[in-house]
Amino acid sequence: MPGISDLGARALRWLPPETAHGVAVGLLRWGLAPAARSMPPPSLHVKLWGLEFPSPLGLAAGFDKNAAALRGLYRLGFAFIEAGTVTPRPQAGNPRPRLFRLAADGALINRMGFNGDGLDVFAANVARARETAAAAGPLGINIGANRDSADFTEDYVLCLKRLAPLADYVTLNLSSPNTSGLRSLQEGEALRRLLGEVSNTIAGMEKSLPLLLKLAPELEGAVLAESVRAAMEFGIAGLILCNTTTARPANLRSPARNEQGGLSGAPLCTPALGMMREVYGLSEGRIPLVGVGGIASPEDAYARIRAGASLLQVYTGFIYRGPRLIADIISGLAERLKVDGYDHIGQAVGRDP
Ligand SMILES: Cc1cc2nc3c(=O)[nH]c(=O)nc-3n(C[C@H](O)[C@H](O)[C@H](O)COP(=O)(O)O)c2cc1C
Repeated sequence: MPGISDLGARALRWLPPETAHGVAVGLLRWGLAPAARSMPPPSLHVKLWGLEFPSPLGLAAGFDKNAAALRGLYRLGFAFIEAGTVTPRPQAGNPRPRLFRLAADGALINRMGFNGDGLDVFAANVARARETAAAAGPLGINIGANRDSADFTEDYVLCLKRLAPLADYVTLNLSSPNTSGLRSLQEGEALRRLLGEVSNTIAGMEKSLPLLLKLAPELEGAVLAESVRAAMEFGIAGLILCNTTTARPANLRSPARNEQGGLSGAPLCTPALGMMREVYGLSEGRIPLVGVGGIASPEDAYARIRAGASLLQVYTGFIYRGPRLIADIISGLAERLKVDGYDHIGQAVGRDP
């Protein structure tokens, strides 16, 4: 029988997608969201980068771009939240409509274009949430660049300096397909220059801050291998695999399938799993990986862990399934560990090479 939160998730589907998203964030912000019924079992507890994650399951970047609803999101049962992407200055993003449901494909296409209230509002929201939800779970902050910025690298450094005191980890989003030129920072000399600048910035800080890179599924072969090597050389703490794809699989059925932007959800599941496997192999398991892309069931979640993910994130699956997905994945993961004879989730990471 559907619970109230499932009914809520279904009701939101009657609204245009961006309106539904705004309503959901508003409800969460005002505490009008269900609370998780139970704590994850100790077998799912993850300790990473000196942080304690009650389970491996977090919310991916882009849902709470302004860090406006953190408390409500933790209450739903996410072990960690990645807020943002935040840019230095407020930005309107692309004209609407810019978010499309591909319900028949279990997918979304978005070309939001880093819409957000900017660094000042974001920092104030996080500071407020930190006062009231201190013990809720780790907070990742995902940072980006303004589209009209003269130097993207400077924008990352600016965000990093300002937000470091408020974050448990910071992600450099180098992989949004909706800011022209951004993805070129993921590779070659541009990546090395950026990594040089951000690691100098971090080296000058009192706090040791884990820095993560979020990569695109289009990064492949020798270029991917070189980017992973550069990340490890510069002491990057983890890689998030992956962002939305600009590819359009031939079997998409929904009318909106040819909209421009990044495709997320079910069609991304297999490519994201493949990328996870490849990067786990390339890095020989020496850099923690966060799996995201098309995870919508305990099977998807466990497969991603076995392919090499230490942590997981969801976005599109959560939009379609609502908060019930969180409890399903948590209980499903715990069951699968038992069946496979593991005491702890860490033992399953990278078991399927
Ligand atoms: C509407 C929407 C907005 C997003 N915005 C961001 C963003 O601001 N920053 C980012 O790093 N990823 C963003 N993403 C990508 C997600 O974090 C995630 O990497 C991607 O959707 C794949 O996961 P999923 O299949 O579970 O949705 C966005 C995704 C969607 C659907």
